[in-house]
Amino acid sequence: SNVRWGFPKWWIGRVRQAYPAQWEAILASSFQPGPLTLRVNTRKTSREALLAVLQAQDISASAIGDHGVILDQPLPVAKIPGFEEGWWLVQDAGAQLAAQLLPVTDGMRVLDACAAPGGKTAGLLMQARLQLTALDIDQGRLERVASNLQRLDLNDEGVVLRAGNAIDLKSWWDTQPFDAILADVPCTASGIVRRHPDIRWLRHEQDIADTVALQRRIVSALWQTLKPGGTLLYVTCSVFPQEGIEQDQWMQQALEGAVALPSPGQLLPGQGQEHDGFFYSLLRKQG
Ligand SMILES: C[S@@+](CC[C@H](N)C(=O)[O-])C[C@H]1O[C@@H](n2cnc3c(N)ncnc32)[C@H](O)[C@@H]1O
Repeated sequence: SNVRWGFPKWWIGRVRQAYPAQWEAILASSFQPGPLTLRVNTRKTSREALLAVLQAQDISASAIGDHGVILDQPLPVAKIPGFEEGWWLVQDAGAQLAAQLLPVTDGMRVLDACAAPGGKTAGLLMQARLQLTALDIDQGRLERVASNLQRLDLNDEGVVLRAGNAIDLKSWWDTQPFDAILADVPCTASGIVRRHPDIRWLRHEQDIADTVALQRRIVSALWQTLKPGGTLLYVTCSVFPQEGIEQDQWMQQALEGAVALPSPGQLLPGQGQEHDGFFYSLLRKQG
């Protein structure tokens, strides 16, 4: 029943239809608080060093993924050593994959098209020294990118923060194509309900179609700014297939020269997973 699951009926129906074997585990995971996961700022320290500092302060933690640390018990960030020093940022293990999946190397021209508050921007800058444009439509949220990069000491010379609508290329793009684009597009956020429990009551079923349409407009515009041979990583924190696998199929049809590269696809929360729900698709633009 609705009461048992604490979700709108339409939401339950959609998850159940998409994942007949896992829908209960997916919904149930929304009622467990997500773990506190850190992404080590590998420009400043190493994971081993951070784990040693945590251990010295009796904070139990373990490694996750390539650069992550997961705390056994959540703590206020100010109580975790290294916040002011910029040794880490809070970032879910699923979100940490973004910076690893987009192939970036020193000197590349990179666009982070939906950048605020800058968690994935930071991850990209830890991977390489980039000519990076961090774009976001929301000027207020863009200021959080600035403060995060400042704290983490990632304000490289080549980093530019821009307020602008990704769809409206004329308003922000200087016509120089990008080698790589991160499109962490706005979504229903149905994959992160455990961190934002009110999401499920704020959303309406119609939002899915509206969001899908917006994502398509954004990705279509961004594709024009990508160099032939360049790569675009499409990301959402949703579990609805309309924003994930179906969007992936649409992109491969609609975007000229798009070729799918290996990527994780749909990551589901629950079932003992430490990460939130994400969808990843990596596309190359055939030259
Ligand atoms: C999923 S969040 C990005 C999270 C961020 N990448 C991170 O890892 O910290 C999506 C962002 O897209 C921005 N956004 C929404 N519509 C946009 C548009 N048309 N152009 C550019 N940014 C947009 C929102 O303001 C929001 O900050």
